[in-house]
Amino acid sequence: MAAPRIRIETGDITRLAVDAIVNAANESLLGGGGVDGAIHRAAGPALQSECRTLGGCPTGEARITGGYRLPARHVIHTVGPVWQGGRRGESGLLSACYRNSLELARLHRLGSIAFPAISTGIYGYPLQAATGIAVAEVRRFVAREPRPEQIVFVCFSAEAVALYEAALADPEPQNTGNMG
Ligand code: AR6
Repeated sequence: MAAPRIRIETGDITRLAVDAIVNAANESLLGGGGVDGAIHRAAGPALQSECRTLGGCPTGEARITGGYRLPARHVIHTVGPVWQGGRRGESGLLSACYRNSLELARLHRLGSIAFPAISTGIYGYPLQAATGIAVAEVRRFVAREPRPEQIVFVCFSAEAVALYEAALADPEPQNTGNMG
């Protein structure tokens, strides 16, 4: 049987030697806390210098830069929605983050991409709902595009591992706890 295209890894996304890691950024693209802070620290100051040239990024969209001192060749910066209760278009915006990041990876002919759980930290998106959206959107992309070949969900907690495993085992994960 062929190796699955979608897999789970645990730990720090900045350590992964994939073609692109995805950053859960903010609209300024100039850095912040959480995974964004970790990525900028590990990449070094040249990452912020390149980000300055981009002029920000609206919520739901994505931009690509180099990876500098990271083991990853590129960083795809996407801006997740701030959770405001689920009726402000959050689920559509979160889906767009995954779709637009994958589309950038495809356009740049990248073979592998790793995602953190976008919006589920400082931005407060409920992890179970966000996990269902992430898995559903990645599956939709994988069903129609051969590249990127490898998609990794990086889990930063045991809770995240359990939720991604459940979503990947569920044929309709978007129905699982999605309040959007
Ligand atoms: N590797 C993998 N996942 C991580 C790591 C890491 N090194 N560090 C945190 N996580 P967050 P957001 C997980 O808060 O909610 C920044 O200030 C974390 O456990 O990083 O999209 C930006 O500049 C959580 O599950 O991103 C924005 O202002 C997930 O990554 C804002 O935070 C996302 O948590 C974006 O907030």
